[in-house]
Amino acid sequence: MANKGKILVTGGTGYIGSHTAVELFNAGYEPVIIDNLSNSNIGVLDGIKAITGTLPTYENIDCKDYISLGHFMERHSDIKAIIHFAASKSVGESVEQPLVYYRNNIVSLINLLQLMPKFNINNIVFSSSCTVYGQPDVLPVTENSPIKPATSPYGSTKQMSETILRDASAADKNLNVVLLRYFNPIGAHPSAEIGELPNGIPNNLLPYLTQTVAGIRKTLKVFGNDYSTPDGSCIRDYINVVDLAKAHVCAIDRILEKKNKKNLEVFNLGTGKGVSVLEIINTFEKATGMKVPYEIAPRRTGDIEQVWADASHANKELGWKAEATLEETLLSAWKWQQKLQEREPKAE
Ligand code: UFG
Repeated sequence: MANKGKILVTGGTGYIGSHTAVELFNAGYEPVIIDNLSNSNIGVLDGIKAITGTLPTYENIDCKDYISLGHFMERHSDIKAIIHFAASKSVGESVEQPLVYYRNNIVSLINLLQLMPKFNINNIVFSSSCTVYGQPDVLPVTENSPIKPATSPYGSTKQMSETILRDASAADKNLNVVLLRYFNPIGAHPSAEIGELPNGIPNNLLPYLTQTVAGIRKTLKVFGNDYSTPDGSCIRDYINVVDLAKAHVCAIDRILEKKNKKNLEVFNLGTGKGVSVLEIINTFEKATGMKVPYEIAPRRTGDIEQVWADASHANKELGWKAEATLEETLLSAWKWQQKLQEREPKAE
């Protein structure tokens, strides 16, 4: 396939970054990865190679390091666009270490934005989050739904990053920005060569669930069954990580083919469907034939009750749609967990 050009993927060995690197290869792009491996490992590159047949170019670079980042761009003078995943992402950790989060997530972005014009890079796709909407008053949320005050330093960094990118794109009309607001990414590549690699005890539902079924954790706690939702548990929009990765390729195509209507565009990336925690458990059991040991626990502080996306803007403008069924996605998460077990079986 013709090489459609080099795309710098920061955080490319991470969960969403690695799946996006695969989809970039599949679409004829050449992803070049930088990552400081703070929450991922180098073995992910072999997973990408196992799927695509190509070992991506990789360098261990921290985006906070302006000098090294600049040298990297100098060595790769033909980068067409950047997809910026590299960031810290744990809500709880951000409350304990806010300054680490602000430095990591904000300094990295500013470094990239200041270096881009020096190397004639005009295009950036940014990983934002539905966390910017807080608990919306009206569901589903569209890109025009109000931005609510952030409830964690992590959430603040996503809001600030959006503001920084908005201001930068207003000041420089040559700069093209796409803000992708992810809902809840879950699942793994169907090959089980790459997936989520949670560090320590997972906070997120799916890795905790699959680790529980695998016997690494004793019981999954369902945080609250007294919410104003049909079954009382919280509702989210769970998006398959491969579908999510493909949306990044659509965003890159759009800006490189100059189909963007403004130099800053925003897209919600979700399925458009809200699913409760108990529905996730039931569907997982149906898809895998495995029992999920769970108990109802008190609400988790800071959780919002329900949120799901209106993804019609992305459907129409990016020509993208979430395709995987929830069953397929949950099965992929389970296959990935089993693969991890084969590699390094260990109990709690
Ligand atoms: N949940 C449980 N038990 C668990 C873990 C989670 O019941 O052990 C529930 C939560 O209460 C919530 C749902 O599962 O209702 C999803 O929780 P996650 O922690 O997986 O995801 P969140 O929706 O809390 O957070 C995710 C991302 C954040 C992002 C946020 C935006 O992890 O990075 O969505 O809303 F900011």
